[in-house]
Amino acid sequence: MKVTVCGAAGGIGQALSLLLKTQLPAGSELSLYDVAPVVPGVAVDLSHIPTEVTVEGFGADSLDAALADADIVLIPAGMPRKPGMDRADLFAVNAGIIKTLAEGIVANCPKALVGVITNPVNGTVPIVAEVFKKAGTYDPARVFGITTLDVIRSEAFVAELKGLDSTQVKVPVIGGHSGTTILPLLSQVEGVEFSDDEIAALTPRIQNAGTEVVNAKAGGGSATLSMGAAAARFCMSLVKGLQGQDVVDYAYVEGNGEDAQFFAQPVRLGVNGVAELLPYGALSAFEEDAKNAMLATLKADIQEGIDFMA
Ligand code: LMR
Repeated sequence: MKVTVCGAAGGIGQALSLLLKTQLPAGSELSLYDVAPVVPGVAVDLSHIPTEVTVEGFGADSLDAALADADIVLIPAGMPRKPGMDRADLFAVNAGIIKTLAEGIVANCPKALVGVITNPVNGTVPIVAEVFKKAGTYDPARVFGITTLDVIRSEAFVAELKGLDSTQVKVPVIGGHSGTTILPLLSQVEGVEFSDDEIAALTPRIQNAGTEVVNAKAGGGSATLSMGAAAARFCMSLVKGLQGQDVVDYAYVEGNGEDAQFFAQPVRLGVNGVAELLPYGALSAFEEDAKNAMLATLKADIQEGIDFMA
């Protein structure tokens, strides 16, 4: 198993790489790519942790070598938000970065499973898809926007509110990864009842949790540690799928287009990425209204990515 992290020297990249060094199956190869000159040092640092995962760092000129024959590529590269910014404000600078990396993937590991973290995820995932389409090698089953942070935040917040063990709480989150496009399905949390007031307070808290971190970091960036944990968790789902295990997780994928061309939903993972798109089930009236209200925003975000490539 070769996993490449593009943007490995940044805040998310380092946290993610640390977790992968300790969690990937024995015999795996962890390939760290970054334009920041510190990346070989990050690799040396990680290599001192005694696990059966080898680590190699690749600098700005070595994207091809970093990606060669990767099974999974995770992309946290790019600029983070500052207070007062929306994720959409990052599009202008991050779209070009994601395009360059996607072109590298097409050239060096076109069969890799690609997990995109770079914001705005609603628009950067369509860019990756368009790069593959241009090359004639697009497989929608292999391209994912990682929305796991919305899921783990929901688990943490629900557990906190209800005094539960957070490791036992499961919260489905559908839609996209920005503001109102993030839709937690609190009506589907097993064994937990929420009052209307709790739903009215918890839903926007989950939707604005990224901004909560951005404001708390006061100009020092956005979520890195929780995002690293979320991306590692999703990567391990991809790994289990590649190993032939039956695993279901939530991700932002190109599905059947019922709601939008790209939509976060449950998927069954397998040796080729998405093995099956799963329905997200019945929504409460509140969730149905929230979904219908956000679709125009989500579709506009997706179109921005497609238009960038056109
Ligand atoms: C998050 O959800 O924390 C990330 O998408 C980063 C951000 O800008 O909010």
